[in-house]
Amino acid sequence: MEKKYLIIGNWKMYKAPSQAVDLASEILKAGCPENAALVVCPPFTHLWGVAAVLKNSAIALGAQNMYPAAEGAFTGEISPAMLRDLGASYVIIGHSERRSIFRESNELIHQKVKAAQDFQLTPILCVGETLVERESGQHREVVEEQISSALEGISDTHLIIAYEPVWAIGTGRTATPELAQEMHAFIRDLLKKRFREEGLGVHILYGGSVKPGNAAELFAQPDITGGLIGGASIVAEDFMAIARAAEVA
Ligand code: PGA
Repeated sequence: MEKKYLIIGNWKMYKAPSQAVDLASEILKAGCPENAALVVCPPFTHLWGVAAVLKNSAIALGAQNMYPAAEGAFTGEISPAMLRDLGASYVIIGHSERRSIFRESNELIHQKVKAAQDFQLTPILCVGETLVERESGQHREVVEEQISSALEGISDTHLIIAYEPVWAIGTGRTATPELAQEMHAFIRDLLKKRFREEGLGVHILYGGSVKPGNAAELFAQPDITGGLIGGASIVAEDFMAIARAAEVA
């Protein structure tokens, strides 16, 4: 069976709302390779405009975070119900920038994964070790704990895992395809233990300095089924070059 890739753009806190509309239009115009599905995750304030551009297209919309409640007195937060109403169908949860800068705990991330599923949003659960954890040989342990705590009690396989070694995010230092594959195979085993056969259908994306020049060799690895792209996703040409790498991988 041909591998179907999932390529997700994490626009982080970049682009003004009007520029985001232009970026979405450029991506839409470029067309998507047959064996890849695309998702873009703009900042909250840009979702409305980008949703209008992507309406009735094959490109799906995601958010970068959310608060795990339908509504309430949570000043400054955004709920999964609001995201659904805007047309989002995915949400990034537990990105390393949220874990480190905003001190998000494994417990909060667990609540967010659960709330996302409760509101029919597919959570993109980000996991990955820091450089210190990798150098001290704790990377498997750390990733296993991140996954088991986030998925505790969860039996619904509508979810995506993004393995993003923290030392590779925004640094230009990509994991080698072999090293990434080793962790993806480890994560695949964890998912099989947890979900049995159904665990095979869960996407495991690689993230961390994916660029047009290194995407194909990463995507060629048996347990890498796509990418979570940061910096390169806000340049339409680069994002589409990465998507096209799925065709040759
Ligand atoms: P990067 O970011 O591609 O800029 O390294 C990836 C991410 O943070 O999701």
